[in-house]
Amino acid sequence: MNDSAPWVNPLRDPDDLRLPRIAGPCTIILFGVTGDLARKKLLPAIYDLANRGLLPPNFGLIGFGRRDWSDEYFANWAKEHVQKTCRTPFRESTWNQLAGGIRFAKGTFDDTQAFVNLSHTLNDLDRERNTHGNHAFYLSIPPSAFPIVAQQLAKSGLTQSRQGAWRRVIIEKPFGHDLQSAEALDRTITSVFDPDSIFRIDHYLGKETVQNLMAMRFSNMLFEPIWNNHYVDHVQITMAEDMGIGSRAGYYDGIGAARDVIQNHLIQLMAITAMDEPVDFTARNVHYEKAKVLSAVRLPKNLALHTARGQYAEGWQGQEHVPGYLQEEGIGPDSHTETYAAIKLWIDNWRWAGVPFYLRTGKRLGKRVTEIAIVFKPAPHLPFTANATQEHGPNEIVFRIQPDEGITLRFGSKVPGSTMEVRDVNMDFSYGNSFTEASPEAYERLILDVLLGEPPLFPTTEEVNLSWKILDPIEKFWATQGQPEQYPSGTWGPKSADEMMAHDHRAWRLP
Ligand SMILES: NC(=O)c1ccc[n+]([C@@H]2O[C@H](COP(=O)([O-])OP(=O)(O)OC[C@H]3O[C@@H](n4cnc5c(N)ncnc54)[C@H](OP(=O)(O)O)[C@@H]3O)[C@@H](O)[C@H]2O)c1
Repeated sequence: MNDSAPWVNPLRDPDDLRLPRIAGPCTIILFGVTGDLARKKLLPAIYDLANRGLLPPNFGLIGFGRRDWSDEYFANWAKEHVQKTCRTPFRESTWNQLAGGIRFAKGTFDDTQAFVNLSHTLNDLDRERNTHGNHAFYLSIPPSAFPIVAQQLAKSGLTQSRQGAWRRVIIEKPFGHDLQSAEALDRTITSVFDPDSIFRIDHYLGKETVQNLMAMRFSNMLFEPIWNNHYVDHVQITMAEDMGIGSRAGYYDGIGAARDVIQNHLIQLMAITAMDEPVDFTARNVHYEKAKVLSAVRLPKNLALHTARGQYAEGWQGQEHVPGYLQEEGIGPDSHTETYAAIKLWIDNWRWAGVPFYLRTGKRLGKRVTEIAIVFKPAPHLPFTANATQEHGPNEIVFRIQPDEGITLRFGSKVPGSTMEVRDVNMDFSYGNSFTEASPEAYERLILDVLLGEPPLFPTTEEVNLSWKILDPIEKFWATQGQPEQYPSGTWGPKSADEMMAHDHRAWRLP
């Protein structure tokens, strides 16, 4: 095959979506390879892809880091981490195949010579493994380092590709900390990479259940007709964590729950829940529909009534007594950073006019759960005695995104017996029970999509900017409100969050 010809997998009919999609020859260059994300998620995901036969035999992996490591030392170090956390069984044969393409490039981000050396390593690897000059630069590094690494890549010519080869860059959230900084980041990255080569990772979009939200909505007659303000009362999107900030004080303090989770994961989930049917699932059409929803978002006028924030205080998480946020190592006693945030949003279009979307996230809550709950209006008439429906609440469709991936349908049913009594029951679909194959990790799906150049699951600049436009006024308002309300660890957040719902005659679901 011609060295510069685009890779075409001869085994795959491009129209047959049942066949696995296999990446073509390429190299991933992992910046920040010694970091938390690379060790726990990225290296295992790359191994799992290889183990599933989804990487080409001539795949290359270069770790860039500031340790004095040889290729061999790095490969053994990576193997140790992969063995601990890989999802699929560890197989020596898979590892040996991968290890043949593993290299280490030593350097710091401000060292221009290190990038020149990296380009030599890449050229050698391209030649040895015939990787066709296709390179994906994964910036798993502190956001403050994005500009310098982007500039170093450009300076050393690494962003220029040979004819027929591609160069892609992958960046991790947070994409800025407000609209202005997000725009500045975008200017930096687009000054060295073509906009189509930039892949922004919001790993929630790689989760099976999130993709299933689209599959379920747009492949069934059952749901879409009732997916609007005629039937839906409101929507609740929750991402609750039972953990505190752990050792991430440096990252978290000053960022807070809303910037860390609502701006990206929850607003993305809202866009997919609320969007209209895309013409097809190409990136252009999916992004178009999501951006349409985000452009239609309106904030309530009174942010004091319709938002809430809190900070976890000491309390009990199961059997364990845990410290409050202000007692965590690295956090000042007067920190105003919120560890809980709840907001209400309107979407001004025909489908959703009058239907509030409530988004909440927090640390040290009752349990770890992420879900989207569509809560329906009450039936227009109940031909029962009042006693018969005492335990009958609204119908709900709940997308359980983690940890127990699946869908729950909640509706009223007759209690067995001689009297007519209606009580709520759940009908559950669980991935684990319905499919024999376990769901891949989000990072497996997303890394594969980058290598295949398939961008529908990656947020665009427009989506990122629209999300900041939603959040910025809320952050500005909160900045005038002093210290957030304290809530005991292990509970479901501050009282003001319950009051925010009570004001609308609603209540948060207890997941
Ligand atoms: N961790 C997560 O679960 C998670 C989730 C979502 C998004 N993210 C995002 O992913 C990115 C990485 O996060 P992380 O948690 O892995 O961070 P981390 O543990 O702090 O790792 C940062 C990495 O960057 C390297 N680094 C920093 N400055 C450097 C320099 N001047 N020269 C060379 N290497 C340098 C570090 O090397 P040393 O080891 O030598 O210090 C380390 O490998 C961040 O943008 C973060 O916001 C992380």
